[in-house]
Amino acid sequence: MTTIAIKPGSTYTSIYVSGHGLVLKEPTVAAFDENNRKHVRAVGHEALAMRGKAPNVTVISPVSEGVISEPEIFAMMLKCFLDKICPIDAVFRPRYKAIVAIPLGLSMEEREMYEDVMLDAGIKSVTLVPSVVLSAIGADLPVGTGNGMISVNIGGGRTEVALLSYGGIIDGCGVGIGGQILDEALVDYTTGKYGVRIGVDQARKVREEIGSLYDNDKACMTVGGMNVASNVPETVNIYALDVRDVALPYFMRICDLVKTIIKGCPVNVANDIMNNGIIITGGVSNIHGIDVLFMEQLGLPVKIYTRPQYLQIVGAGKLLTNDELMNQLITGGSV
Ligand SMILES: Nc1ncnc2c1ncn2[C@@H]1O[C@H](COP(=O)(O)OP(=O)(O)OP(=O)(O)O)[C@@H](O)[C@H]1O
Ligand SMILES: [Mg+2]
Repeated sequence: MTTIAIKPGSTYTSIYVSGHGLVLKEPTVAAFDENNRKHVRAVGHEALAMRGKAPNVTVISPVSEGVISEPEIFAMMLKCFLDKICPIDAVFRPRYKAIVAIPLGLSMEEREMYEDVMLDAGIKSVTLVPSVVLSAIGADLPVGTGNGMISVNIGGGRTEVALLSYGGIIDGCGVGIGGQILDEALVDYTTGKYGVRIGVDQARKVREEIGSLYDNDKACMTVGGMNVASNVPETVNIYALDVRDVALPYFMRICDLVKTIIKGCPVNVANDIMNNGIIITGGVSNIHGIDVLFMEQLGLPVKIYTRPQYLQIVGAGKLLTNDELMNQLITGGSV
C-alpha cells in the first residue's frame, strides 16, 4: 500500500506521499453547476478562480472552522485531488493508507464521518491524528517525550491550543478564529473607514502582504474596491495599522485561550513550558509581530517558524515513516 498524509484544512488541502514529499497543496473548494451538486466542475485552484466570477457556478468550501462540514463534497474533491497525483489511466492505481490531520475534540460520530469520507474517496485505511500534534512534529519538537509544550495553530478557519506531553494531549481547546474571519472583518472595517468595499480576496492579499501587529508599522497597500456611496470602482490605501486594528482583538482572544490552558497546567509541566516556550504554527502566524505580542501577553518565550503553513503536513509526512513516534502517540492517547 502507498502511505500518504492528508491535511484537510479550512483554506488548503495538502497531500504528502511517502518517499515523494508534498505533492499537492490546493484550496479546499469545489465548483458545481448551480443546482447540481452531483457533478464536480472543478476543484482547488481552478474552482477558487471561478468563485464569484463564473456564471451559473456554485463554489463550495467543504471545511468550515477546521471541521469537514460537507462530507460528500469533501470526498468528491479529495477523489479529484488523488486522481491528479495519480492519473485515472494509470495501469496500477495505488491502494492508499493515510494519516489524516483532524481538529481537537471531535465526537465519535464526527470521527466516523472523517473515516467514511476518506473511504468514500478511495482510501483503504485511515489513522486520525490531531493537527496540533502534527504541527509540533513538523517543527521537530520532541512530542513523544515527557517534555511538555504548548502548541498553538492558527489556520484559515480555526485556532487550536494544546498542552502536549508524552505523546498525548493533557488539555486543549479550539475556536473559530482564523484568516477567513480576519479578512471578513477587514472588509467591514475598510467599508466603514474609507467608504470603499473590497473583496475578501483583496483583504486576504493585504493581510498576507502587509499584515502586522506592531503599533508602528508604516506599510501600506493599494487595492481596488467599490465606493459604497457612488457605486463606482475606486482604489483605496489600506495600512498595516488598519490590519492591526482589525486583528488585534482576535489575537488577544487567542492569548486568553493560551492563558486558560496554562492556568490548568500541572505544576510538573510548568517548568517544561518555561523552557520550551509557546510554539506557534499555522499560516496566519506569518503575521508580523505575533511573537512580540504573545511574549508580552504571556511572559513566556515564543517560537515562530518560517513557512508555518507547511508544518502540519510536513509533520504528518514525518510520522508516516516513524513507527516509534507513532507508538508513542498511540500510548499517549493522541491516536
Ligand atoms: N505567507 C503568508 N503570509 C501571511 N498569511 C499567510 C501566508 N501563507 C498563508 N497564510 C494564511 O494562512 C492561512 C492558511 O493557513 P493554513 O494552511 O495553516 O490553514 P488551514 O489548515 O487551511 O486552515 P485550518 O487549520 O483553520 O482548518 C490563510 O488564511 C492564509 O491567508
Ligand atoms: Mg490547519
